[in-house]
Amino acid sequence: MTDLSVDIAGLHFKNPVLAASGTFGYGLEFAELIDLNQLGGFCTKGLSIEPLEGNPPPRIVETHGGMLNSIGLQNIGVRAFVEQKLPHLRRYQTHVIANVFGFSPDEYVDVIRVLNDGDGVAAYELNISCPNVKKGGMEIGNDPNEAARLTEAVKRVARRPVIVKLSPHAQSIAEVARAVEAAGADALSVMNTILGMSVDIYARRPRLGTVMGGLSGPAIKPIAVRMVFEAAQAVSIPVIGIGGIVTAEDALEFIIAGASAIQVGTANYADPGVTIKIIDGLKAYCRQQNIERIRSLIGTIRC
Ligand SMILES: Cc1cc2nc3c(=O)[nH]c(=O)nc-3n(C[C@H](O)[C@H](O)[C@H](O)COP(=O)(O)O)c2cc1C
Repeated sequence: MTDLSVDIAGLHFKNPVLAASGTFGYGLEFAELIDLNQLGGFCTKGLSIEPLEGNPPPRIVETHGGMLNSIGLQNIGVRAFVEQKLPHLRRYQTHVIANVFGFSPDEYVDVIRVLNDGDGVAAYELNISCPNVKKGGMEIGNDPNEAARLTEAVKRVARRPVIVKLSPHAQSIAEVARAVEAAGADALSVMNTILGMSVDIYARRPRLGTVMGGLSGPAIKPIAVRMVFEAAQAVSIPVIGIGGIVTAEDALEFIIAGASAIQVGTANYADPGVTIKIIDGLKAYCRQQNIERIRSLIGTIRC
């Protein structure tokens, strides 16, 4: 029997495969399509203190090897999540990670306070890296001092582990990683989408309503693997790898480069069962390579 379990931020995950925020709804939308109990965990859509409608359409454009989105953090608000979604999610044997967003550090803290009272949330993932909002997202994630200040403020009130999700736009991912680790972060998620743009050549207009949006999917994978490698070298807290993962082989690249777990985002749209296939693929690889525990693979890259 292969042991796929990993430990991150004091939590035991049955396997290192999680679904990424914004591509898995509030989890319940996928409960009829896959067995949620098989997942290591999943991240909810980003939750803000008040409900948000998001950006004007069009908000999604397909690109070669990926997609651009400008959803803009549409969500039902943290109170509705705690009242309407959490009671149903508690039935599942998987870790629910609440992805948190605010337009100011105070708003992040307000969201965390509401979640603290919600039974069934395993950890918080701070989105300080969304390219689709003007304030609060990338502005914080790109500046090591701002990122550290926010992490500290959240850690003061959080009753659960805090995972900070980093931006690929930071000048030095290692510097931001070290700053949030020093501020008390329990783990890192690397990375969010990369700002991109697409043009309709007949209308001569941008394809997205907001002109620019976040690029995700296989096209960004090599950048994400590089950033996970750099972040994992810089800190001693666990790093969760995200960006363009579709297969078990993709997931293994991240794990060997230094990720303690991985998240699958855009691939869920093409195949809602992709996370389960990746778990099966990891088992098959470990069996074939005579690896008893997948955790023994983390960061074993030889450069
Ligand atoms: C439609 C869409 C919505 C997203 N919403 C969020 C969000 O609310 N919070 C967040 O931290 N990341 C969000 N993300 C980023 C993903 O969680 C992930 O970091 C990114 O898409 C890269 O992974 P992938 O290539 O596997 O999709 C979103 C991504 C997409 C495609």
